[in-house]
Amino acid sequence: MSLALHPGYTAAEGVLTGDATPMLVLGIETTCDETAAAVVERAATGAGRILSDVVLSQINEHAAFGGVVPEIAARAHVEALDTIIDKAMRKAQLGFAALDGIAVAAGPGLIGGVLVGLTTAKAIALVTEKPLIAVNHLEAHALTARLTHATTFPYCLFLASGGHTQIIAVLGVGNYVRLGTTLDDAIGEAFDKTGKLLGLGYPGGPEVEKQATAGNAARFALPRPMLGRAHADFSLSGLKTALRLEAERIAPLGEEDVRDLCAAFQQSIVEVIADRVRMGLKAFQERHGRPTALVAAGGVAANDAVRQALQRVAVEASTALVVPPPQLCTDNGAMIAWAGAERLALGLTDTLDAAAHARWPLSEVRGVGTAEPAGKAVSAADQPASKAAGPQAAGTKGGSVRP
Ligand code: KG4
Ligand code: ZN
Repeated sequence: MSLALHPGYTAAEGVLTGDATPMLVLGIETTCDETAAAVVERAATGAGRILSDVVLSQINEHAAFGGVVPEIAARAHVEALDTIIDKAMRKAQLGFAALDGIAVAAGPGLIGGVLVGLTTAKAIALVTEKPLIAVNHLEAHALTARLTHATTFPYCLFLASGGHTQIIAVLGVGNYVRLGTTLDDAIGEAFDKTGKLLGLGYPGGPEVEKQATAGNAARFALPRPMLGRAHADFSLSGLKTALRLEAERIAPLGEEDVRDLCAAFQQSIVEVIADRVRMGLKAFQERHGRPTALVAAGGVAANDAVRQALQRVAVEASTALVVPPPQLCTDNGAMIAWAGAERLALGLTDTLDAAAHARWPLSEVRGVGTAEPAGKAVSAADQPASKAAGPQAAGTKGGSVRP
């Protein structure tokens, strides 16, 4: 894949060299169950502004299955994407000719959906003769704090969604070092499976949090997997199993039982997050010096108890907690457009043969001066956890234990 420089920018500096007009980038997101498009402006100073941000969630289509069904997701993206892009352009009051680039999430994610977005973006780029920027979805989460809070490098990112759990040193655009990940379930996935087990709605995270606030966490002694370990990795399957065994032991479950189980689960996971992020920050300091911030992203960052714990950990590490607003923590088009603009400013554009990736570890994302990485081994931890519905994702054998 060749590296094409956007006219007016130098790859070395990532700054405007001539024309000082701001850059306008369309971003397209279809890697999971949100169909999203947005237009973002990046000023020559590096400041960002969202001109439009349109997100269509497919939650209702997947709720009955307790997880995302890949084929249903891909079809829903096909049906909705044109309209969503049109809405984003109208809201931004722009025609395609005004854009400087077309950014699209080219993975990691459910491949059918990724292909829908990528093909659409390529078609727009081809017709409008604008540069295409194939963005890594995780990179977009990683860079969002620069759009919302102008956070400067280097910072430590805690990304926790339904598909991902990672602690990342964000050192520059295209320069990421993974400090921790999950060995099995993603944190959001663990919340979702807990919700499903206890007969709550999908997605489980917000429901579990709601129940937990009125529950007694001390009633059940659940494990804190990995607590105190020297690395910054997570493992949540043991907690999930312990919760299931407790639920089965006292079944049928009454309302109070559900509240107490949710509270015990949430308390355990919050303690584990605090401990793992503390270790991640320690590893960051040792390898990269003091981070400018601890940034939280992904749907789980919407959880109050999680945010409070992260706040404490950040203070302990003498850094600040930065959490983008909830609608920018969860999947959206603005983060893709912004990551595209950051890459475009550095001349990091892609050609029309850019590939869709089901797996795409951040360590394989191209930065300035790095060759296109090819054929690297991919570990299971680098792909999204099994957010998809299906036998392995159901995980709650026998389904709900609620009466
Ligand atoms: O980032 P996101 O919207 O989508 C992806 O997974 O890509 O994250 C959704 C995940 C779901 O697993 C959901 O249960 C979880 O974030 N989540 C929460 C909360 N809100 C959403 N988990 C815990 N507490 C919440 N309040
Ligand atoms: Zn995401």
